[in-house]
Amino acid sequence: MRDDVKPMFAANWKMHLGPDETETFVDRFGALHSARQDARVVFFPPYLSVGAFLASARTRPDLGVGVQDVHQEVNGAHTGAVSAPMAKQVGVGWALAGHSERRREFGDDDVTVAAKVARILEADLRPVLCVGETLEEREAGALEAVLSRQIEIVLASLAPDSLSLLTYAYEPVWAIGTGRTASPDDAAQAHTVVRREIGRCGGRDDAVILYGGSVKPGNIEELLEAPGVDGVLVGGASLDPESFAAICAGGG
Ligand code: PGA
Repeated sequence: MRDDVKPMFAANWKMHLGPDETETFVDRFGALHSARQDARVVFFPPYLSVGAFLASARTRPDLGVGVQDVHQEVNGAHTGAVSAPMAKQVGVGWALAGHSERRREFGDDDVTVAAKVARILEADLRPVLCVGETLEEREAGALEAVLSRQIEIVLASLAPDSLSLLTYAYEPVWAIGTGRTASPDDAAQAHTVVRREIGRCGGRDDAVILYGGSVKPGNIEELLEAPGVDGVLVGGASLDPESFAAICAGGG
């Protein structure tokens, strides 16, 4: 973690916690976690729980809210999809793009991810661009090539003056939901590559880069100590208020 960067703790709830459970979560988490001036906390609930989150957290402006995905167009005949301007209208501030589960399960390729990031920026939301390699890619020595491609296609498609608005998440696919966390050295090495590629493509080389993949209370400190890790994107361990509050106390 760098001294001059506020760490970011982001919760990706995926398809967990409906509106009722969201209310219960926010009450409990709010009691456990006091606002920190020196850190940023952002939640990505499922779409249908966003309203419940915003209502339950109305006295907690320190808790940011975002959506887990948006469609690459602003409207149209796309059954089941939600667009970035719609997310903006309900009052969220953030959106993920390119999560590996979207890439794998829904076929989001790099060009689609680039279009999604563009729509997110146009809607005046802050994008978190997720990148990361599969185990096969890592074992084939393709880590740098994969990260480079995922970053370049997106950044090359955006207006240069918007590049400073991106936050990034490095999430090795083999560490997501598997209990297998990247070692702090692995994370540091990959973050160095991500940072270099961002700089090469015209982005800010001091961009905030989160690590994601089996983050839990027991490994938060060592991950935040890894050079170049500016925060975390947490799936499973963010579903429990106690465990996510313990993570959000990290680095303090
Ligand atoms: P995990 O998920 O913490 O459950 O590994 C992280 C993510 O997919 O963002």
